Amino acid sequence: MRIALAVNGSVHTLDVEPRASLLDALRDGVGLTGAKLGCERGECGTCTVLVRGRPIYSCLALACESQHVPIETIEGLANPPEQLHPIQRAFVAADALQCGFCTPGQILSATALLRDNPRPTDAEIKRAMAGNLCRCGTYPKIRKAIQAVTRASPRPSGRPAVRPSE
Ligand code: FES
Repeated sequence: MRIALAVNGSVHTLDVEPRASLLDALRDGVGLTGAKLGCERGECGTCTVLVRGRPIYSCLALACESQHVPIETIEGLANPPEQLHPIQRAFVAADALQCGFCTPGQILSATALLRDNPRPTDAEIKRAMAGNLCRCGTYPKIRKAIQAVTRASPRPSGRPAVRPSE
């Protein structure tokens, strides 16, 4: 079947099997390989992409049901492409990756969190990132990277100047 996916601000027309996952369509059809195939059953989060700004497991989503909605992948985060997004820079600065297999998904989940809540608490960070596993165990550095971005963001008025964990 012919489908159209709106990915990173561009529309891509693809011929896919009706059973094709969004992950397969992105990797094999659009040529964006940042989202990875891990467990293929919605447990590890390496396939995370943003749909309508929300992180989803693209291995579980059908490509044909992902039309007409904005999809964001890690390739679309840097804008302009040669300039890393602040969250990507924070991951590099915090050394928040080892093999890097989980990193695109981690960064997209962190992006969704920080768009919704620019000053999350440690508990909110842990909850928001719970769907992204890291087999290398870099969780403390991932949280450190996210915290670094939260510290750099403007503090909304009315919020306490120092959080209990600081
Ligand atoms: Fe290797 Fe997370 S950095 S799986």
